[in-house]
Amino acid sequence: MKLCVIGTGYVGLTTGACLAAIGHEVVGTDSEAAKIAALKRGQLPIFEERLPEVVAAGVAAGRLTFTSDARAAIAAAETIFICVGTPPDADGKANLAAVEAAARQIAACAQGYRLVVGKSTVPVHTGDQLKRVLATQSHGRLEFDVASNPEFLREGSGVYDFFHPDRIVTGSDSERAAKRLRAIYAPVLEGAFTCGWHRQPAAMCGWKPPAWVATGITSAELIKHASNSFLSMKISYANAIADICELADADAGEVLHGLGLDRRIGSDFLRPGIGFGGFCFPKDLSAFIEMSAELGYDFRLLREVQRVNTRRTEQFVRKVREALWVLPGKTLGVLGLAFKAGTDDIRLSPALKVVRELVRLGARVRAYDPQAMERARAELGGSIHYCGQAEEVADGADAVLILTEWPQFRRVDWAGMRARMSHPLVLDGRNLFVPGELEGQGLEYHGIGRRAPRRAAAPLAA
Ligand SMILES: NC(=O)c1ccc[n+]([C@@H]2O[C@H](COP(=O)([O-])OP(=O)(O)OC[C@H]3O[C@@H](n4cnc5c(N)ncnc54)[C@H](O)[C@@H]3O)[C@@H](O)[C@H]2O)c1
Repeated sequence: MKLCVIGTGYVGLTTGACLAAIGHEVVGTDSEAAKIAALKRGQLPIFEERLPEVVAAGVAAGRLTFTSDARAAIAAAETIFICVGTPPDADGKANLAAVEAAARQIAACAQGYRLVVGKSTVPVHTGDQLKRVLATQSHGRLEFDVASNPEFLREGSGVYDFFHPDRIVTGSDSERAAKRLRAIYAPVLEGAFTCGWHRQPAAMCGWKPPAWVATGITSAELIKHASNSFLSMKISYANAIADICELADADAGEVLHGLGLDRRIGSDFLRPGIGFGGFCFPKDLSAFIEMSAELGYDFRLLREVQRVNTRRTEQFVRKVREALWVLPGKTLGVLGLAFKAGTDDIRLSPALKVVRELVRLGARVRAYDPQAMERARAELGGSIHYCGQAEEVADGADAVLILTEWPQFRRVDWAGMRARMSHPLVLDGRNLFVPGELEGQGLEYHGIGRRAPRRAAAPLAA
């Protein structure tokens, strides 16, 4: 099928490339001309594992193209996916300006029948607004259906998630739209694809048929918000349990492990730390709270989830201050700036929040992230020192802070780090280690929700 993807960011580019991989003809367009120019040169504007290969294969097969000419891209497509950003406004509501702009553009240049699919995360009843804009702005030239197809990919494993979804949710109010969406996703539903993550046929890479959840548009819009808020709630719950463990001198790792083994609960998202960030959970949570309030429901449960999360970075900074007493003039090595491992995305990153606060309090920060350095530099400018490799953050450091759970940080030469530090202290904001692992390297270690730390780390052997 001929598809157009408006917005070639984390969601649009990943979805577009994967749709091309399962056999569709996809044109990606974006209002940022530089992004499209880079994509045409074969350069990806984001880091997403396995995506470069999937994009390159789609381009080589002639099924994936990019253009700044949105008009032409829209005019040639049968189905148009809106994947533009919906950033939070100051009041916490989702800003839908880009969604409206995309709808106006479709209305201005499409003729005949089009299926317009909203993939961006939007408040409930956005589908109705889309219909209104398409109807009023197309002046009768356009026959259309609107559908909602919320996206559940996780940054860092977006390609995997496309080929191995738990469920595909589509909301539409017409038989024609529902049938077309099912046809678009048929290869994923039937396992008739070569997986872009495993580079093997579906049958050989553990593919299981996803649930096909076909609902009305409003329900589909709500499923996305209800899912993200639930996952945020799980994280805040784990963080609250971690606080209680610290007060009770219990170990959050043990408690949450015991909790997560209950199949009704599940162990995912039960890891305590400095809180959730990124372009989904914080903004979707506040958007859901605001949206519920507009509908007449005061979602106090989610307000508390938000409050617990906001306090995570504050509590971590307090831990740093307690450990080092006076911050001005102290040097802190920071491992990790991305909002989570596996991505270069720093939007609403708790790591950045911690770094900004430490700098504000007078600390000197030396930081390293495997993928997010360029984006962090654009955001933090000259306020911190950027290191070329993980070990460098330790030079003269009074403490090393782990702020993103990149697995490679487990493999750095910690004994070597210890030798470069002026004080052998590690504050692990992501519980990347378990107590006892780093102490053996002569380091004093503090995690989150752990038992009272062992003091007086033994010096390294001479
Ligand atoms: N990032 C995720 O993990 C994720 C997961 C699920 C859902 N979502 C949702 O998907 C949507 C997109 O998120 P993202 O992370 O891909 O954002 P993004 O910022 O990476 O990408 C959005 C793209 O849209 C482009 N754009 C903005 N206005 C446009 C317009 N009028 N015409 C054409 N292009 C336009 C931007 O230039 C940008 O490239 C958001 O609603 C988000 O909440 C994101």
